[in-house]
Amino acid sequence: MKPSREIRNDFLKFFEERGHRIVPSAPVIPHGDPTLLFTNAGMNQFKDVFLGEGKRDYTRAADTQKCIRVSGKHNDLEEVGRDTYHHTFFEMLGNWSFGDYYKREAIQWAWELLTGVWKLPKERLWATVFTTDDEAHALWQEVTDIDPSHILRFGEKENFWEMGDTGPCGPCSEIHMDLTPEGNAPADLVNADDPRVIEIWNLVFIQNNRTNQGDLEPLPAKHVDTGMGFERICAALKCMENEFKIPPSNYDTDVFTPLISTLRDITGKPYKDGNDQVAMRVISDHVRALTFAIADGAIPSNEGRGYVLRRILRRAARFGRNLEMRDPFIYRLVDVLVVTMGDVFPEIKEQQSHIERVIKSEEEGFNATLDRGLEIFTEIIEKMKTSGENTIPGDDVFKLYDTYGFPVDLTALLARERGFTIDEQGFERLMTEQRERSRDVKKSAGDDSRPAITIESSILKPEQFTFTGYGNFESSARVILADNNLLVLAESPFYAEAGGQIGDTGEIQINGKTYRVIDTQKKNNVSIHILDEPAEITPGTEVTARIDKKRRVDIQRNHSATHIVHEALRQILGTHVQQQGSLVAPDRLRFDFPHFSKISAEELRDIEQMVNEKIKESIPVEDAILPYDEARKIPNVKMFFGEKYGDEVRIVIIDEKFSVEFCGGTHVPRTDDIGLFKIIHESSIASGVRRIEALTGEGIKRYIHEKIQEAEQTEENITKKFEEISSLQEELSKYTEEKQQQLTRPSLGAIDTSIADSITEANLHRIEELVRERKSIDDELTQAARDLRKQITKHKSRSAIQNIDSYLEQAISLNGFKLLTLQLEVDSMDELKSFGDSLRAKIGSGVGVIGTVINDKVQLLCVVTDDLIQERKLQAGKIVGEVAKLVGGGGGGRPHLATAGGREPEKLSDALKEVRRIVGSMLE
Ligand code: GLY
Repeated sequence: MKPSREIRNDFLKFFEERGHRIVPSAPVIPHGDPTLLFTNAGMNQFKDVFLGEGKRDYTRAADTQKCIRVSGKHNDLEEVGRDTYHHTFFEMLGNWSFGDYYKREAIQWAWELLTGVWKLPKERLWATVFTTDDEAHALWQEVTDIDPSHILRFGEKENFWEMGDTGPCGPCSEIHMDLTPEGNAPADLVNADDPRVIEIWNLVFIQNNRTNQGDLEPLPAKHVDTGMGFERICAALKCMENEFKIPPSNYDTDVFTPLISTLRDITGKPYKDGNDQVAMRVISDHVRALTFAIADGAIPSNEGRGYVLRRILRRAARFGRNLEMRDPFIYRLVDVLVVTMGDVFPEIKEQQSHIERVIKSEEEGFNATLDRGLEIFTEIIEKMKTSGENTIPGDDVFKLYDTYGFPVDLTALLARERGFTIDEQGFERLMTEQRERSRDVKKSAGDDSRPAITIESSILKPEQFTFTGYGNFESSARVILADNNLLVLAESPFYAEAGGQIGDTGEIQINGKTYRVIDTQKKNNVSIHILDEPAEITPGTEVTARIDKKRRVDIQRNHSATHIVHEALRQILGTHVQQQGSLVAPDRLRFDFPHFSKISAEELRDIEQMVNEKIKESIPVEDAILPYDEARKIPNVKMFFGEKYGDEVRIVIIDEKFSVEFCGGTHVPRTDDIGLFKIIHESSIASGVRRIEALTGEGIKRYIHEKIQEAEQTEENITKKFEEISSLQEELSKYTEEKQQQLTRPSLGAIDTSIADSITEANLHRIEELVRERKSIDDELTQAARDLRKQITKHKSRSAIQNIDSYLEQAISLNGFKLLTLQLEVDSMDELKSFGDSLRAKIGSGVGVIGTVINDKVQLLCVVTDDLIQERKLQAGKIVGEVAKLVGGGGGGRPHLATAGGREPEKLSDALKEVRRIVGSMLE
């Protein structure tokens, strides 16, 4: 059987021999194209060339492109698993001509590769052309020896290819293959979505652009864009090798068999017809999409591309339930995928452990609610069967989504499997309401507190504005417009908030009066200065704009440090680290990135150390403006997903071998201007997203002063605790003869407050050590006081147990009998029970309820004397059961003595106060 890797190589070699440059696959997460969530065709990376906006230094190219088709115009998700030839992730083999060859060569070479190299039987091939494409129709007859009756015309739906709602497009000519055993499929099986005759190759003649308005406009040149489904051609070739006797399936090729066989091992189920087979196909398909998307930087989340991944994973997890898989298992398939595909796509090998962690954690998260969600779903279906409805109401779909994490398409799938549909509109309505609610919450939380810029975008002309603040802190400038307290200048050193760096503040002198600039924001690429009061200024007035230099220098320190820490994180934690968000302020910096475990203290230390080393090296921080296409090819350049870049981009370089990043921000001239770098906090802000917060320069000075104050405060606490402990010890000695071990107070070294004024790494560490030391003394003392208090209560309890009479004095009388409620400190249930027995024997006629906390759990005991059981129908089991409910538990037992437990010790004393009411309500 011809291995799939040879098939891939045949294709690339064939086109290389015909003058094509073999290019690498673009990432499956498209850079710089907000119209796409995922790369959905080989041509995506050449979109700019087709549109006449970009150039390459070659006019013919070929590759195998990683594609994901789960959203937008090309969405195959619903078909996956049900049939044998649709996938969420697949490889697309493609060849391109950029204004070079056109229909003739495209058709001729496709035919030559299929029938000459791969020897597909000509009589089994069909070609389709766009209804009006007489040229292609004629070429098929002229340059190939296809059976002329096998050339069919189709309309726009089948034979006019478009990449998305907008973008390059054109008529196409497809090649379909008859895979029936006899090879005599009729023409109406072509384009009939039938596995017996499948499309294997699409030759698109790109000549138009679909605009935002939906119009078709001609492109400056004509191009060829072809796409062949790699997994399909592998299946077709295998089918041919089997003399067409076995129906083809992509899942039977060596692209999938290692995955399927691992799945068989993991689940212990055979891969054979029926539901199990569909489940195995779905899972082995979905794990490929997840693996490649995560390798290229995506991460499951609740929004956009991340939510698509979450949906794919949850779909796979649910199919896992069909195979009786309850524990995370999908992540275990990543390894076999890496073994089979890691040499063609090394990124999955490099990121293997990150990918596994992400998938496993998502599986764990969903597994927690999946079973309960499936139960709820079954209840909904049962209810509907009874009522004869067959559309699941929107609020049920919403509940499954909101509480059990069922994406709407998963609920739709489950419903369809049982012959039901869902009310999608109702669901969407509830989703919209929820979004509005959360917007309101955000607003009231002050998230939107920044005033909106009321100036219309259309009057802001980016070409009339120059930012002068890379090198200057002050400029004289001409007013373009003033609107209330918003001011626009023709040139300005004020940096407007962008890329995480916050806006500059400062002052503007206008006609001898000074206005404070409290913030600078960007609109339509023009800086808007926000003044502290309205200013009436005529356009054309000359002003002096001066930023708060000290604040800006602090911001620059943090911005350059952000670039360095970004690279340090990648080197220490792995190349999956990519900036997901950042804040660059004067007093601190914040950096968010995907990572699936807590960063250890050791890793944090290494990161900090690497950054401080780079700072000490005094590396110049340089910038350059480059054409986008040139810049994005710089090795290891950092650019940001979803960002739309112009033709030219600015890059910031801190040693080209260390950090090169797309960035419009302002930086220190050399790294040692940063001073010192200190991470102060590391946390998780969402599943799989970590945040680090750090300080530089002035921020560290403030941090040291705060630490000194903290140390002094702790010192005071320590003194107070010693006093408390002495008095507790005195109290304890009243109950015990035992000599308590004397705690000796450690000597507290004086803290030299002057060291805060000279910031060095050594001083910083010394302060931190002092604070740590104080804190541990503080903790030790807290624990000592706690132990002492416990011992005192225990001694009190013990002595009292020996003297039940002293307790009985505390009993109240209720309807002629005694009621005693007590909270005791005992070590075991046995001790509690023996106390109960003694109490019952001594109380005469009465009820006793005793509560205690053992190992953080509440234990309750109730005793009732025989007369009350018989005459007043009181039962210890019932009483204790009611009390237990108040402490988050339950229990019961016999009428005369019963015990119960609870999980909420903090509620015990309130619960005991309720005993009187409870017993009262049970009296007959
Ligand atoms: N761009 C060709 C295809 O996706 O079919």
